Amino acid sequence: MANVDWFYIAAGCIGLQQLLLGWCTYTCCLYVIGFLAVLRYIVIPAECDSVLWFYKQFGKPVESLKGHVVWITGASSGIGKALAIRLARAGVRIAISSRSVESLNNVKTLCVETGGITENDVLILPLDMVEYDKHQPAFDAVLKHFGKLDILVSNAGRSQRARWEMIEADVDKDLFELNVFSLVALSRIVTRYFLEKGCGHHVVTSSTAGKLGVPMSASYTGSKHALQGYFECLRFEKAGCGLDISIFCPGPFHSNLLNVCFTEQKGEQLGQQFRGARMSADHCADLFAIGIANRVAEIWVAPQPVLSLYYLNQYVPGLMKSLLQLLPLKTIMKLRDGRSDVVQLEGAEAKKA
Ligand SMILES: NC(=O)c1ccc[n+]([C@@H]2O[C@H](COP(=O)([O-])OP(=O)(O)OC[C@H]3O[C@@H](n4cnc5c(N)ncnc54)[C@H](OP(=O)(O)O)[C@@H]3O)[C@@H](O)[C@H]2O)c1
Repeated sequence: MANVDWFYIAAGCIGLQQLLLGWCTYTCCLYVIGFLAVLRYIVIPAECDSVLWFYKQFGKPVESLKGHVVWITGASSGIGKALAIRLARAGVRIAISSRSVESLNNVKTLCVETGGITENDVLILPLDMVEYDKHQPAFDAVLKHFGKLDILVSNAGRSQRARWEMIEADVDKDLFELNVFSLVALSRIVTRYFLEKGCGHHVVTSSTAGKLGVPMSASYTGSKHALQGYFECLRFEKAGCGLDISIFCPGPFHSNLLNVCFTEQKGEQLGQQFRGARMSADHCADLFAIGIANRVAEIWVAPQPVLSLYYLNQYVPGLMKSLLQLLPLKTIMKLRDGRSDVVQLEGAEAKKA
């Protein structure tokens, strides 16, 4: 040991240190590049949650639903209409409901034109969801026509643009009547049938507003949270009874929604249109249908940055609340509607400034 020159020990240590440094720098670079690649190619372009993304790549195709009977409420326009057409293309037999018979006839024609089904495979069932006494006869008509029901898509609903403190109590009641109580009442009739049959699938259209507090839509946000509560309860109460529950939480997509939105005043409709780029109802329905075929428990479909807000809210809710409080209302409304002038923002905006 005494014969070893100190110079060789020092040179060896310096060489080893440089090797280690180089290796660390190299590894760090790889991690940073990997992280940036995930951000650039996966996170930013993502338009659905990772579970749905997985099923989209490796799960059952929508065509696996061929021959099933699906009843869609709110099927005359928007996502209900787009879903009916997508399922028809896959050979699914469908019952379509809403108040407008003319629009339903148009949807039926489009469904048959896909070539997946015949006229007899589409049943038009005019139904105002808030007329509760019509629920049982409508359900009986589905069974009479198809002999069975496999999936109920509870999709009928209306949104809202209104200032929180100005909403009339009757608006709260009317909105909950349509978005929650009528859907739950119809689902109860169908649930008894599903339980007797030993299998069945409830699909429920919620919203971003079912996950987060969405400003300028107080009654709507309350209604979608309530809807999720009802069906989360059913999911666990009837576990093991053959019932599947899929809750669909879409972000903004093109539809007639802003036109027929509730406002602050009873009986009023907003009569506005979305502006700017947003997801098409057809594309949204494609992803929705994959979620249904694979019986995904919660389906998130939203463009960025809305999808990232879902994730932040789910995993770091405290940070999310602070972030949303920092964002000006105008920015949030632009994200939702492509414009910030559909509802009067004064007051709340002034306070923030
Ligand atoms: N568009 C979005 O950005 C968005 C985002 C998140 C969630 N959503 C949800 O998606 C669902 C569908 O909305 P959409 O955007 O597709 O809007 P939409 O184009 O206005 O469609 C709403 C559907 O509900 C039906 N409906 C309304 N009131 C009804 C009633 N009393 N009885 C029976 N059916 C009724 C309408 O048909 P009739 O008028 O002919 O009855 C129509 O078929 C809603 O639950 C909404 O909350 C939409």
